[in-house]
Amino acid sequence: MSTPSSTTTATTATRAATAATATLDVARVRRDFPILATTARGKPLVYLDNANTTQKPEAVIRATDRFYREQNANIHRSSYVLSEVATAAYEGARERVRAFLNARSTREVVFTRGTTEAINLVASSFGSAFVKEGDEILITGMEHHSNIVPWQLLCARTGATLRVIPIDDRGALVLDDLHRLLTERTKLVSVVHLSNALGTLNPVRAIVSYARAKGVPVLVDAAQSVAHLAVDVQALDCDFLAFSGHKLYGPTGIGVLYGKESWLEKMPPYQGGGDMIASVTFEKTTYAELPHKFEAGTSNVAGGAALTAALDYVTALGLPAIAAHEKELLAYATARLAELPGLRIIGQAPEKASVVSFVLGDVHPHDVGTVLDTEGVAVRTGHHCAQPVMDRFGVPATVRASFGLYNTREEVDALVAGLRKVREVFG
Ligand code: ALA
Repeated sequence: MSTPSSTTTATTATRAATAATATLDVARVRRDFPILATTARGKPLVYLDNANTTQKPEAVIRATDRFYREQNANIHRSSYVLSEVATAAYEGARERVRAFLNARSTREVVFTRGTTEAINLVASSFGSAFVKEGDEILITGMEHHSNIVPWQLLCARTGATLRVIPIDDRGALVLDDLHRLLTERTKLVSVVHLSNALGTLNPVRAIVSYARAKGVPVLVDAAQSVAHLAVDVQALDCDFLAFSGHKLYGPTGIGVLYGKESWLEKMPPYQGGGDMIASVTFEKTTYAELPHKFEAGTSNVAGGAALTAALDYVTALGLPAIAAHEKELLAYATARLAELPGLRIIGQAPEKASVVSFVLGDVHPHDVGTVLDTEGVAVRTGHHCAQPVMDRFGVPATVRASFGLYNTREEVDALVAGLRKVREVFG
């Protein structure tokens, strides 16, 4: 039986990083992702749907395989060595996440199914403890549905009101309205770091700082941002932060809620069940220490092991190198798309990352996506789980190309060629 160390995965990523200290060696990195060598509709796969989910490097695939071959057992509750190995893999992942986010303690790292569950956890638990009729929750006009609906449900339960910071025509937040909308009634601000629909990068540090001065906690939805820039929860000084493993080259089904210990201590459990208790009688139950108080039931242990591999991989490549590569690619894509008559980019905020959302004349985005698919180009079309953003810009849907660390200029060229074909088909 082997130990749950991530030596193998780290070595692979470190090798990749050695070739990519200052800049990313994309050709080399691409070889780490087996799916990128496959074809779609008989053409080389051009995968431009990274905001939806990212592809997985060998290191992550191997970590999953290895967990089930060599490490699988339930965690925290058995006396035998295999369970110790699985527990070490899972708790090792927690420490890996702590270091990745620069959290103060693993007590502040709660594993969830993903960003959606992490936000629901806060809405449910923080909401039941601290939100009542007449209070307000403040979000922005560019939130994903997972940072809207949990708050609407909370408001319906409590009689609180949801307030929304508007966005301007470029797709940037109207920050003056933050000052107007954040009042003594505001109990929490919940804001997306990087918009999945527009690519806007929000000034979350400034938002946190403003809210903190008024004593209002802030949740940062970092589902998109963690794969594209270094996120440091102490530097941001946010109270909560959520992300998903699968958008960060890791597995589906595991994500993270970071919460300041001072808040998590005061919040009641989210779900009840095994592993979250200290003792149970029919009269009274006491709860486990943080973070286990929030992790009822059998966790995604294999997901934890694979998430460690993903974080090792990304960290070894270096988020600054990844960000620089993607910034260059976004600029190139924006310039190339501007060559196409009738193409309108939705979301032109001054600070953007990794996402370009657009409409092509009056061709429906779904038709654009269908033609691109025949060329092997995978993009997302639709409302991107952000219908209020579509309403704000007066479109039913957009086509969205979203970039990851392995994308290339040649793939942007394939997208543009595909769009020219759309023009030929639809006139
Ligand atoms: N999966 C969602 C998207 O594609 C968040 O943007």
